[in-house]
Amino acid sequence: MCGIVGYTGKRCSITTLLDGLARLEYRGYDSAGLAVLEDGQLKLVKSVGKVKNLKKNVAATWPNPEKCTASTGIAHTRWATHGEPTEANAHPHLDGSGKFAIVHNGIIDNYLDLRKHLQEQGCVFKSETDSEVLAHLIHQCYEGDLLHAAAAASKKLKGTFGFAVICTDKPEEIAVARRGSPLVIGVGNNETLIASDIAAIAAYTKRVIFLNDDDLALITPDKIDIRNIENVPVSREIAKIDWDVAAAEKNGYEHFMLKEIFEQPEAVANTIRGRFDNKVFTSIMSGLNMSPDELASVKRIVIAACGTSMNAGMVGEYYFEDIAGIPTEVEQAAEFRYRNPIIEDNTMVLAISQSGETADTLAAVREAKNKGGIVAAINNVVGSTIARETGRGIYLHAGPEIGVASTKAFTCQVTALLLMALLFGRNRRLERHEGKNLINDIKNIPELIKQVLARAGEIEKIAKKYAKAENFFFIGRGCLYPTALEGALKLKEISYIHAEGYHAAELKHGPIALLEENVPVLALANDIPGKDKIIANIQECKARKSPVIATATVGDTEISELTDDILWIPHCSSFIAPIPTVVALQLFSYYIAKERGCEIDQPRNLAKSVTVE
Ligand code: M6R
Repeated sequence: MCGIVGYTGKRCSITTLLDGLARLEYRGYDSAGLAVLEDGQLKLVKSVGKVKNLKKNVAATWPNPEKCTASTGIAHTRWATHGEPTEANAHPHLDGSGKFAIVHNGIIDNYLDLRKHLQEQGCVFKSETDSEVLAHLIHQCYEGDLLHAAAAASKKLKGTFGFAVICTDKPEEIAVARRGSPLVIGVGNNETLIASDIAAIAAYTKRVIFLNDDDLALITPDKIDIRNIENVPVSREIAKIDWDVAAAEKNGYEHFMLKEIFEQPEAVANTIRGRFDNKVFTSIMSGLNMSPDELASVKRIVIAACGTSMNAGMVGEYYFEDIAGIPTEVEQAAEFRYRNPIIEDNTMVLAISQSGETADTLAAVREAKNKGGIVAAINNVVGSTIARETGRGIYLHAGPEIGVASTKAFTCQVTALLLMALLFGRNRRLERHEGKNLINDIKNIPELIKQVLARAGEIEKIAKKYAKAENFFFIGRGCLYPTALEGALKLKEISYIHAEGYHAAELKHGPIALLEENVPVLALANDIPGKDKIIANIQECKARKSPVIATATVGDTEISELTDDILWIPHCSSFIAPIPTVVALQLFSYYIAKERGCEIDQPRNLAKSVTVE
C-alpha cells in the first residue's frame, strides 16, 4: 500500500529517493516525504498529495541539488490508514529528540497501548499515525547500535511492518526490519538501496536480496549485515532480477492502464510461452513441481484470492470442474482463515495474486500450509512473498502492472488457470484430441485480444454515450458470470460509477427493482451455450426500459437487433470467451473514466497492493 525507498552511498540521495518514490506512487499516493542526513543533521521534507508536490518542496529546500551532501536518506509515499492525509501524518516521523527518522509500511496493531505508555514517559506525538510510536520506541531502545535498537523495538510491536530508520549518530547507516510487509535490499557498487518494491530501485541495480519475516538488516554503502530478531546472523541469497525499467514506463500511452490493456496480446503470449507439450498435448508447469502421481492425488481445489484475482479464480473454477473434473471452490482470501476451512492432505490450495503481497491472500497461504494442504500460487511479481512462501506455482511473466486497476494480470491469470486445468485434465479424463484442441484455442488468445483492441475506437464511441450514467449492471452466465463481476469492478474503481455484477438469472431475485431508463445493463451475450437464456434476461431488462449494451459474437444480428449498443467479440469457445470479452469491458470502463475526467491510474482511495487486512 505505502511505499518505502532508502539510499546510502556516495552520491546525493535526494534524486534517487524522489525517483524511487515516483515509481512507487502507484502503491499509495495521498502524501509523501523524505528524511536525509546532511552534515550530521536530519533534514525532513513532506507534502500532501502526489510526489510532484514533494518535488516542489524539495527544490525549495535544496535549490542547488548538485551541492547537496546528503548521501543517506529514506522516503515514503503514503496510503492513509491511521489519520487523514496531512503533512503531520505523512512519513518520515521523528522521535522527540529529532535524532531518529523512520518510515513504516503495515499496521501496528498495539499502537494505542504503546502510545499511551510512551506518553506517560513524556513522549510528545505530532501525528495520529500508528507509525510514529516506532520512532519513539527506537529512541528508547537505542544504546549506540542502530540495528539493536530496531530489533528491540520490533519485539514490542504487534501487527505488520516493513520499516527503515536513520540516525544522526550514524551518517552512513540505515537499519531495516520486516514482518508481513515486503522489503528488498538493492546491492549496488558502493551504494546500497532498500525498497518495499523492486520497481523503486531496479533502475540502479539488478542485484537484490529479499528479506524474510523477522529479518533485520543494517546497510551501509558497502556492507549488508542481516540478522534475525534474536540478533543471530542469517544468510540471504542475492537474486538477479530480470526487470525491464522501460516496461514500467508509459511509452507514449496516456495512462498505464491503457498501455497495459494494449500489452495483453504480448503478456498472454509470455504466460503461455514454453508451456505446451505438443507430443502428449498437455501443459508444462515445472514450477508446480508435481509428478503425475501427485497431480492425480489432488481431489479438491480451493482457490483463495481477492478482487480481480478472485474473479479470475472464479473463471478457473469452471475450468477445473469442466475440463479436469476436480471439485473446486473459490474462497475470498479475507475469510479463509477465519472460517476454519476444511483442508485435507489431497486438497490443493491455490493462491492467486498479481502482486504476491496481498495480506489476506498471504494469510490464507499460511493457514493452508498449517493445515497441511498442497499449497501453490499464481503470481506475477517474481520473488514476492506469496511466491516464496508457497515455493511452488506459476509466474505469469506479464511484466509490471502499474495501473491500480488490474487488466493484464486478469487475462494472464485466466490463461494460466486454463493451462493448469489442461494439465490436470490430461492427467485424468481429457482425451488426447481434446487436449490438442484446447492447446490450439489457447495459442489463439493473443490474436483474439488483438481483434478486440482493433475495435478500441468503436468501444470509445459507445462508452462516451454512457459516461453520465450513475448506476450500471453487468450480467453474464457460465464463465461470463465472473467476467461480468470483473467488468463491474473495473467500471466502479476507475469511473466511480456504481456498478454491480450479477449472474443474469439473479437479477429477477431483487436487483431488477432498480432497473429504469437511467440504469444501463451490460449483458455478456456472446454466442456460447446459455445465449438463449441471456436473451430472455435482456428482454426482462428492456421491458423495464433499461438501455442494454451487449457483448456479442461478431455478426450476431439476433443480439444486435435486440440491444442498444454492441461490443463485438471475435468467435471463440466458451472457455476462451472471458478473455477477449474482458478486454472489451476494460476498454469500455477506461473510456468512460476518461470522459468523466477521472484519475485513471490512481483512483481515489485505492492502492495497488493491499498489504493490510
Ligand atoms: O495483487 P493481488 O492480485 O493480490 O491484488 C488483489 C486485489 O487487490 C486487486 O486485484 C484489486 O482488486 C484491483 N485493484 C482490481 O483492479
